[in-house]
Amino acid sequence: MATIHKGLRQKPRQKPRSSVLILVLCISAITLFLLFSSPLSTNGFSFSSLTLRNLSKSRNKRQHTLHDKYLYWGSRIDCPGKHCDSCAGLGHQESSLRCALEEAKFLGRTFVMPSRMCINPIHNGKGILHQSNNASSEERWADSSCAMESLYDLELISETVPVILDNSRMWYHVLMTSMKLGARGVAHVEGVSRVELKENNRYSNLLLINRTASPLSWFMECKDRKNRSAVMVPHSFLPSMAAEKLRDAAEKIQAILGDYDAIHVRRGDILKTRKDSHGVERTLHPHLDRDTHPESILCRIKNWVPPGRTLFIASNEKTPGFFSPLAIRYKLAYSSNFSDILNAVIEDNYQLFMVERLVLMGSKTFIKTYKEDDKDLSLTDDPKKNTKNWQIPVYTMDRDEEC
Ligand SMILES: *[C@@H]1O[C@H](CO)[C@@H](O)[C@H](O)[C@H]1NC(C)=O
Ligand SMILES: *[C@@H]1O[C@H](CO)[C@@H](O)[C@H](O)[C@H]1NC(C)=O
Ligand SMILES: *[C@@H]1O[C@H](CO)[C@@H](O)[C@H](O)[C@H]1NC(C)=O
Ligand SMILES: *[C@@H]1O[C@H](CO)[C@@H](O)[C@H](O)[C@H]1NC(C)=O
Ligand SMILES: *[C@@H]1O[C@H](CO)[C@@H](O)[C@H](O)[C@H]1NC(C)=O
Repeated sequence: MATIHKGLRQKPRQKPRSSVLILVLCISAITLFLLFSSPLSTNGFSFSSLTLRNLSKSRNKRQHTLHDKYLYWGSRIDCPGKHCDSCAGLGHQESSLRCALEEAKFLGRTFVMPSRMCINPIHNGKGILHQSNNASSEERWADSSCAMESLYDLELISETVPVILDNSRMWYHVLMTSMKLGARGVAHVEGVSRVELKENNRYSNLLLINRTASPLSWFMECKDRKNRSAVMVPHSFLPSMAAEKLRDAAEKIQAILGDYDAIHVRRGDILKTRKDSHGVERTLHPHLDRDTHPESILCRIKNWVPPGRTLFIASNEKTPGFFSPLAIRYKLAYSSNFSDILNAVIEDNYQLFMVERLVLMGSKTFIKTYKEDDKDLSLTDDPKKNTKNWQIPVYTMDRDEEC
């Protein structure tokens, strides 16, 4: 099998019979994936990682050829634009990548993924695992990046949206061929809608579309697609496409936790305040500090998480023992309880976050910091997105909020 595939891959043009065979294989692979993936697309938090694992082990490696068509958005997420020198956290970069993948799916094209993802130093070096304030270890992470393959399972992604990396031989072939074909092979576009790219045959038949995305960030290209039922690649897609060794680590942790609930407590950078012209501290999330303190959490989750349950806590809070008061009612667990499993596979905080996220997603009851969806349970009622309204932080409880 392996030698046959190797032979096919090295031939730039295939005989019609072998492409029919590949088409049949692809269709059966897609059908198989659709069969197994329906819970994933309807509810990202209830997918079975076991099913995904079976799938990842049984399927054949996807073949990419010059019969496919390609979509390229650039060699770095959110670049060109304001994020070329720095980068946003993993969540923002995933929104951008999701947006690009969605366009590739819409166009029926293979997406050319950046081979590395930039790691924002704010989100690293201040490890949840290694809580030392060693400046030199922070500097070590500054301006660093990690291989896309260390975060995601590209074969698994390719089952939904075919992808290749921009350091692959296939990308080199595509580039060389598109140069040879010139305007008949490649279009460099900016500000052209995806519908136009799909329907106008000036673009639809080209081997390669090279899009320059919004210089603000890639996800701006999806900004007007708020309609949830029109979203082709759900927001839970990339989190569930974690690299195999990360999925394995999460599975081991879940097996030890058994039947558990989970909370994600975002503190850290989002608690920042600034002084207004009268010297009064103001914040974008006025109740967040209060609502993420253990006393408030105990009160808020009491109707959702019965006493005695195992509660997995993922947080960027650095104060040791900050959540200990929750131990009066729950059996607490953190990723630091599993450092023997994690230290063996985790190289940076993005990988750690990917594993933690899988563990959160696998819990029976999952409580987020913010409500992102109507069905979500959350620690605070403050909206997640508030980019303008700086308010005075509130630390007291309203009467009806008291426990
Ligand atoms: C998935 O794997 C598990 C254990 O490895 C096995 O019990 C199960 O039958 C497999 N499911 C499928 C659909 O292959
Ligand atoms: C800080 O890092 C240096 C090496 O970069 C190391 O020698 C030192 O022991 C570290 N200090 C702490 C407190 O971890
Ligand atoms: C894509 O288009 C941009 C802008 O026209 C250009 O600078 C870049 O070199 C192109 N990349 C490829 C791979 O064609
Ligand atoms: C949202 O998208 C779906 C599917 O494309 C469509 O049927 C529906 O009319 C859209 N709703 C709105 C409010 O645009
Ligand atoms: C996790 O570690 C804390 C101490 O850091 C301990 O109190 C707790 O019992 C541990 N939880 C589990 C599930 O082992």
